[in-house]
Amino acid sequence: MKDYREYTDHEIKTFQRIVYDYYQSSGRDLPWRKTHNPYEILVSEIMLQQTQVSRVIEKYGEFIKTFPDITSLAEATLIDVLAMWQGLGYNRRALSLKKLAEIVNNTYGGYIPPHVSLLMQLPGIGNATANAICAFAFNHPVIFIETNVRTVFIYHFFNTKDTVKDSEISPLVERTLDYDNPRQWYNALMDYGVALKKYCSNPGRKSAHHTVQSSFEGSARQVRGAILKALVIKNRQSFNELIDVVCYDPDVVKKNIQALEKEGLIANKGRYIFIP
Ligand code: ADE
Repeated sequence: MKDYREYTDHEIKTFQRIVYDYYQSSGRDLPWRKTHNPYEILVSEIMLQQTQVSRVIEKYGEFIKTFPDITSLAEATLIDVLAMWQGLGYNRRALSLKKLAEIVNNTYGGYIPPHVSLLMQLPGIGNATANAICAFAFNHPVIFIETNVRTVFIYHFFNTKDTVKDSEISPLVERTLDYDNPRQWYNALMDYGVALKKYCSNPGRKSAHHTVQSSFEGSARQVRGAILKALVIKNRQSFNELIDVVCYDPDVVKKNIQALEKEGLIANKGRYIFIP
C-alpha cells in the first residue's frame, strides 16, 4: 500500500477528476445545497447524522419554514420542536438542537460560530458535524471524514487492505482536497461515496470505524419514540393513560420513561408525565 506522499500530483489530479466527473453528471440536487445560511446548514447536518437523506428531504423544508432562524428555534417550546421532529427518529437530537439555539442566541448573538472548536462545544455537535458545517456553510478547507467520504478513499486508495483506520485516510483527504472550493469538493465526495456504496458492496465496511445502525423493531428507541409521539399528541398524561396508548409491557414503558426523564426530554411530576 502506497504512503500518501508517494502518489504523484498526476495521480491525485486523476482522482479529483473522477470524483468531479461523477458529481457533474450525477450529483444530487439536495435542498440544503441551495443555501449557504449557516443555521439552515446546521439543521440539515444534525438531521443527516442518523437519518437517511430521503427522509430528511421530507422534513427539512417544513422545519426551516416553521423555525426559520436561531431565534425562532430558541424561543419555541420543546413540544413544538419535537412535533416537527416526528419521523426523523433519535429525538434527543431535537432537544440538543433547541438547547444549541438558546446558547447561540445568548452567547454568539444568534450567529453560528465559524470554527470547529467552538462548534464542538455546542450540544449535539461532534467532530464530523462541526467540520461539515465549516465546509458547507463557510467554505473552509477543513479535513474531515464521515461515512461517505470514508467509502470513497477506501475504494480508491485501500482496495486491497482488509481494515483501514481513519488516521490512514486523513492525510489523503488533506492531499486531495480542492482548496479553492471545499464546499463543492465535499458535496462531490459524498455523492460519489453514496454511489460506490450502491454499486460496489459498500467499501466502507472495511473501515476500522464502520458501524451499523441497530434494528429499530423491538428496540428501546422504538418504545421511547412511541412515548414521545403520544405526548406530542396529548401532553400531560398519567402513567396509566400512557400505557393504554403506548402498546408495550408496562415495565418496559416505565424503564423508558425514566430514561427519557434523565435525558430531559420529558418530566414526571405528581401524577403526570409531560414534555416540559
Ligand atoms: N451526510 C452528512 N452530511 C451530508 C450532506 N451535507 N449531504 C448529504 N449527505 C450528508
